[in-house]
Amino acid sequence: MGIGIDTDVKPRDDIHNGVLRQVGISGMGFYVPERAITNQELSTMVDTTDEWIRHHIGIETRHIAADDQALSDLAIEAGRKALTAAGLDASDIDMLIITGQNHDYKAPATSCIVQHALGMRKIPAIDLAIGCSGFIYGLAVASKFVADGSAKHVLLIGAEIHSRMMSWKDRTTCVFFADGAGAVVLSPAASGYGLLGFDLGTDGSGSQTIIIPAGGSRTPVTEQALQMLEDDSHQIRAMTHVRMDGKAVFAFATHIFPATIRACLDKLGLSTKDLDFVIAHQANRNIISEGMKALDLPMDKTYINLDRYGNCSSASIPIALTEAVERNLIRRGDLVALVGFGVGLSWGSAVLRWT
Ligand SMILES: CC(C)(COP(=O)(O)OP(=O)(O)OC[C@H]1O[C@@H](n2cnc3c(N)ncnc32)[C@H](O)[C@@H]1OP(=O)(O)O)[C@@H](O)C(=O)NCCC(=O)NCCS
Repeated sequence: MGIGIDTDVKPRDDIHNGVLRQVGISGMGFYVPERAITNQELSTMVDTTDEWIRHHIGIETRHIAADDQALSDLAIEAGRKALTAAGLDASDIDMLIITGQNHDYKAPATSCIVQHALGMRKIPAIDLAIGCSGFIYGLAVASKFVADGSAKHVLLIGAEIHSRMMSWKDRTTCVFFADGAGAVVLSPAASGYGLLGFDLGTDGSGSQTIIIPAGGSRTPVTEQALQMLEDDSHQIRAMTHVRMDGKAVFAFATHIFPATIRACLDKLGLSTKDLDFVIAHQANRNIISEGMKALDLPMDKTYINLDRYGNCSSASIPIALTEAVERNLIRRGDLVALVGFGVGLSWGSAVLRWT
C-alpha cells in the first residue's frame, strides 16, 4: 500500500453499502469494423461456397478489423455508444470489465488501455478471457458489484478480433468467426426488474475442442509454432491459429443451450412458458433453432443477426441484444433469457425482466 499513486477513486456517497439491490441494463451499444467479407469473397480464399455456409451455419457476411485497429479500438467505440445510451459520462463509471479471447497485448490487460482512452477515473478495470460465454460471466461479475453497492455503474464490453487468430486457409474456422464489440452499462434497477438469476458452468474436459495451442506458457510462440502446416483434412494453419472440432461443438451447444436456460429458470421458480424472448450467442443458425425447438419456443421469440455479423464470441450477445431492443422486439416487462456457450467448454445463461 501507499506507493504514492494519487488515486481519484473515492467512496461514493450515493451507493448503498451492504444492501443488495436489483441490477439492470441502463444502456447498450455496439460497433463492428467497416470492412465486410461476404461468403463469395471467402470462397476465393478457401475451398467453400456461399451455399454451404448459408445452409450449415447461416452466415452471409462478417466484419473484419482494419490492419490498424486493435481490440481496444473496437471496445472503445462500443463503450462510448453504451455510455451515451445510458446518459452517462465515462467519469460516472465505477468499474470496467472487458470479456473476450483476444487482447491488444499479452500484458497489460486491454481494460487498462480502454479505461485510459475513455477518460475514466482510476477505477478497477479487469479482463475476463472466457470467450463465447464471456458476456454472461461478465454480467454475473458486474452485477455483484452493483448489487452489493461497491459500484453504481459498471461498463461491460464484449470484444473480439478473431481475424488475428484465424487461418484464412482453414475452412473449419474462418467461415465462422468475425470481429466486433458490444457493450452494456449495468446500473441499479427498480424492484422486480433487471437481472433475476444466472446459471454458469464449465467442463474443462472439452478444453481441446476449440483451442489456440500456441502463444501461452504451454507452447510459446516459436518459429516452429508459426509454421503453416496442412492437417489430414487439408486445412492449413499454424499453432497460433484457432482449431475447432465443429461436430463436437455442435453436440455440446445443442445440449447446453436449453439445459442452462432451464436450470436458470428452475432456480427462479419459472418455466420456459414464462419467457418472452431469448437472445443466444450467435454461433450458428442451426444451433439456435435446435435450442429453441428443445425449449419448445417458436423462432419469433429469438433474434438472429449472425447472417450479417458472423460469430463474434463474447460480443455476439450484446450486439444481438442491442439490435433486438432497437427493433422493439424486447419491451419493458418482458422476461428475457440470454445464453452463451463455447470455448472452455464453458456456458452461462441469465434471466432478466427488461427495464
Ligand atoms: C462444423 C459444422 C458446420 C459441420 O456440419 P456438418 O453438417 O456436420 O458437416 P460435415 O462436417 O459432415 O461436413 C459436410 C461436408 O461439408 C464439407 N465441409 C466442411 N466444412 C466446409 C466448408 N467450410 N465449406 C464447404 N464444405 C465444407 C465436409 O468436408 C463434408 O464434405 P463430404 O460430405 O464430402 O465429406 C457443424 O458441426 C457446426 O456448425 N458446428 C458448430 C460450430 C460452431 O458453431 N462453433 C462455434 C461455437 S462457439
